[in-house]
Amino acid sequence: MNALLDVKDLTVEIEDADGSWKVIKQVSFFLKEGEKLGIVGESGSGKSLLMRSLIKLLPPSIVITGGSVQYDHQMLSAMNEQKLQKIRGKEIGMIFQDPLTFLNPTLTIGAQIRESFLCHFPHVTKKEAQAAAYELLKEVGIADPELRLTQFPHELSGGLCQRVLIAIALAANPRILIADEPTTALDVTIQAQIMELLQKLSPSKSMILITHDLSLVASFCDRVMVMYAGQIVEQAPIDQIFKKPAHPYTEQLLKSIPSLTSREPLVPIPGSPPDLSKPLRGCPFAPRCPYAFEKCFKEVPPLFQISPDHQSRCWLKKDIC
Ligand SMILES: Nc1ncnc2c1ncn2[C@@H]1O[C@H](COP(=O)(O)OP(=O)(O)O)[C@@H](O)[C@H]1O
Ligand SMILES: [Mg+2]
Repeated sequence: MNALLDVKDLTVEIEDADGSWKVIKQVSFFLKEGEKLGIVGESGSGKSLLMRSLIKLLPPSIVITGGSVQYDHQMLSAMNEQKLQKIRGKEIGMIFQDPLTFLNPTLTIGAQIRESFLCHFPHVTKKEAQAAAYELLKEVGIADPELRLTQFPHELSGGLCQRVLIAIALAANPRILIADEPTTALDVTIQAQIMELLQKLSPSKSMILITHDLSLVASFCDRVMVMYAGQIVEQAPIDQIFKKPAHPYTEQLLKSIPSLTSREPLVPIPGSPPDLSKPLRGCPFAPRCPYAFEKCFKEVPPLFQISPDHQSRCWLKKDIC
């Protein structure tokens, strides 16, 4: 298997005055060239921190305490800051959930796209960068790019700002594009337009799409990884996970999303995810799991290989499959 990204046993901890606790626990996964991987899970399951850990884009209180991240034969986890800066954006680009947080309110859209372009391609002239910025805005479907280049972020709608952020990420032409809930802050019609744009722009690009919306994953991704309480609880190709979810958490997530084909009522998952700063015993999903039995509350299940490309972290895997 030729993985472009190969993550092994990645562990990340939060440290504060009272101590430290794990928020990402021995996570292993890979991304093949050209593949689209979806990462799903409720808020707080560690999706964003996992992605930021790949390129060490973390605040000082959050530290990587174990595991490795390999990208195209380079060990990112062992790289110093100077080398990582050459990887961020240029090799691995990110689109975040809230575009306004990542746009500079004091610079025009044109200046921000030019800056990104010049940062990754320093030999390019300012005039060439301006022309590239114009083309990028056209590519991401922004009408009247000439006017938009002269405007500031507050003059644009949320949907347009997200398109600008996509243009900034694309300016570097990264080999891997990570989209962290790129449509969560947008209304439903704009959401669909942004996903259509990502699909159109990147038919062969390696991508990781983070979302809590399984229906988005179904239409966009080849494979999906389900996260709960900082761990992978299930990993499988799209068709397998939708037809035969092996983990009760995935099964519940599927019941909680609207379907075009079924009229079954939506069932929210009862309870809430555990507080990771408190000690946990057994499977973290056990208190919310309709199938939980004694062992689940005592022992953490390992990630079982239930078929060559399907893994599930549940003691009851055989009964559900
Ligand atoms: N900057 C931070 N400081 C302290 N805790 C954080 C910070 N960012 C995230 N966390 C905690 O780490 C856990 C995982 O968060 P996150 O990766 O943002 O989840 P997700 O993206 O799945 O919603 C959560 O418990 C969250 O509260
Ligand atoms: Mg997040």
